[in-house]
Amino acid sequence: LPFHAAAFESAAGRLDQLPQPNAPEIAFSGRSNVGKSSLINKVLNRKSLARISATPGKTVTINFYSLPGARLVDLPGYGYAKSSQSEKARWSGLVEGYFNAGRPLRLVVQLIDMRHPPTADDLGMLDYLLQTGAPFLVALTKCDKLNKTQRAQRRASLEEDLAFCGSVPIVEFSAVKGDGVEELRGLFSEAAQA
Ligand code: GTP
Ligand code: MG
Repeated sequence: LPFHAAAFESAAGRLDQLPQPNAPEIAFSGRSNVGKSSLINKVLNRKSLARISATPGKTVTINFYSLPGARLVDLPGYGYAKSSQSEKARWSGLVEGYFNAGRPLRLVVQLIDMRHPPTADDLGMLDYLLQTGAPFLVALTKCDKLNKTQRAQRRASLEEDLAFCGSVPIVEFSAVKGDGVEELRGLFSEAAQA
């Protein structure tokens, strides 16, 4: 895919604002602050196309980035402790509405912070993905924050935690150092062309 040619397309805060489902979609899911927008920017080789916030929970819309042959879909983050019940209901309505809209969804990239075990919300999201049957992979983010030994330990531990997902691809990623970026580009290109 020509990642360099991506542009911001639109932001949807309501289901009637989703763009026409006319391109293969790759969606990014994960808790607030896990690094979704940073991963998108790194893959696209752009400094700040996707907004990176110091304030978690800031992305409360579904943001669409388009490039020839694909659309990248930045889903709003979950698990922000300060969210109210009504904010959580709004999140569920928007995200479930997106998944149930019959869109050409070719891949979901589920981001999990490599430093920690999956949260209850991460496990809930993985269960949901297994239920929907959407193809997905796991990106372990912020791997630059671990040394080599820690990284091997966390990798082994996460592989156990994620065993219930079967043979899902697991990619260690750093938006700072660039680990995993070429592998992800390859997987995204394959998914979009399948
Ligand atoms: P929401 O939009 O709020 O859901 O967050 P997000 O998942 O899009 O996270 P975002 O990309 O905004 O990153 C959150 C914070 O983590 C920022 O301060 C980033 O600079 C930092 N960050 C993201 N990825 C990495 C990484 O790979 N390594 C390091 N060291 N920091 C990262
Ligand atoms: Mg974001």
